[in-house]
Amino acid sequence: MFTPALLNLTVIMLLITVAASATTYNNHTVGGGSGWIFNSSTNTSATNYTAWAASQTFNLGDYLIFNTNSNETVIQTYNVTTFDNCTMDDSSDNDTFQYDGGETEFNQPSTIAVPLTIVGANYFFSDADDGTQCLQGMAFEIQVNHGLGLPPSLNQPPPPPYIEPPGPDSVQSPPIAGGSQPPPGNGAMGSGASLQMVMCVFLVVVLALL
Ligand SMILES: *[C@@H]1O[C@H](CO)[C@@H](O)[C@H](O)[C@H]1NC(C)=O
Ligand SMILES: *[C@@H]1O[C@H](CO)[C@@H](O)[C@H](O)[C@H]1NC(C)=O
Ligand SMILES: *[C@@H]1O[C@H](CO)[C@@H](O)[C@H](O)[C@H]1NC(C)=O
Ligand SMILES: *[C@@H]1O[C@H](CO)[C@@H](O)[C@H](O)[C@H]1NC(C)=O
Ligand SMILES: *[C@@H]1O[C@H](CO)[C@@H](O)[C@H](O)[C@H]1NC(C)=O
Ligand SMILES: *[C@@H]1O[C@H](CO)[C@@H](O)[C@H](O)[C@H]1NC(C)=O
Ligand SMILES: *[C@@H]1O[C@H](CO)[C@@H](O)[C@H](O)[C@H]1NC(C)=O
Ligand SMILES: *[C@@H]1O[C@H](CO)[C@@H](O)[C@H](O)[C@H]1NC(C)=O
Repeated sequence: MFTPALLNLTVIMLLITVAASATTYNNHTVGGGSGWIFNSSTNTSATNYTAWAASQTFNLGDYLIFNTNSNETVIQTYNVTTFDNCTMDDSSDNDTFQYDGGETEFNQPSTIAVPLTIVGANYFFSDADDGTQCLQGMAFEIQVNHGLGLPPSLNQPPPPPYIEPPGPDSVQSPPIAGGSQPPPGNGAMGSGASLQMVMCVFLVVVLALL
């Protein structure tokens, strides 16, 4: 019932469907155009980060891009106790990381890229102003899905360095956040290709059984 031409067409259409459904790695700009900003005059965050996070789908190998300034901090934790407490105090350095844009003064703009490398709940907050920012909305939770899995460049990530929050007159040297870059698309194509291979084998087996 299948002519070779029809079979070819079926395979091609199947491949197109598989390719289209394969995801790619995405970068998520935290807060969209609002950035990761706290207004200390009004004591409010620039946007509702919980609502923003709910609008996104996060996968391994994606990055969160924080467009921020040195008035805020970027802290990532896998420990909900640390998150709920709005402070890194007493956190362990294997589940909580501070990313630093390297600025030494207040109000300096920076962009901080944080790779998502662990499936499940990831928590982010700013611990600036002794936790007030976090209490006033500078905090959100995301669920990271497996997606395509980690790209090779992030597969063995060095643990981000633990950085003491800057004190009033301390000058911190910048750590390197997300130093290794994923090759955009490469991992996606590799994974998509292997998926296509599996689907091809599956199709051949099904047709052989008919
Ligand atoms: C903070 O909010 C006030 C009131 O909306 C506004 O006038 C001010 O420009 C804001 N500050 C910053 C730094 O955005
Ligand atoms: C932020 O958005 C979430 C989810 O939409 C909502 O539950 C929450 O009440 C909002 N928070 C504020 C302060 O508006
Ligand atoms: C919560 O933070 C306070 C400091 O603000 C600290 O004394 C306390 O030990 C922390 N609790 C936990 C469970 O980490
Ligand atoms: C989370 O951090 C708190 C200290 O803030 C610690 O007591 C607790 O054991 C940690 N939880 C896990 C699961 O590591
Ligand atoms: C972090 O270290 C604590 C002991 O300090 C250990 O109990 C915990 O399993 C470690 N967590 C991770 C994610 O490695
Ligand atoms: C950053 O903090 C400084 C010092 O507290 C303040 O003067 C400045 O207005 C703040 N900038 C923003 C964008 O909130
Ligand atoms: C900002 O919010 C914090 C925590 O809710 C509160 O303690 C502080 O008094 C507020 N500050 C201002 C200026 O409203
Ligand atoms: C996502 O952000 C990372 C880190 O800044 C960057 O290397 C990568 O090129 C970005 N990818 C895309 C698709 O913009």
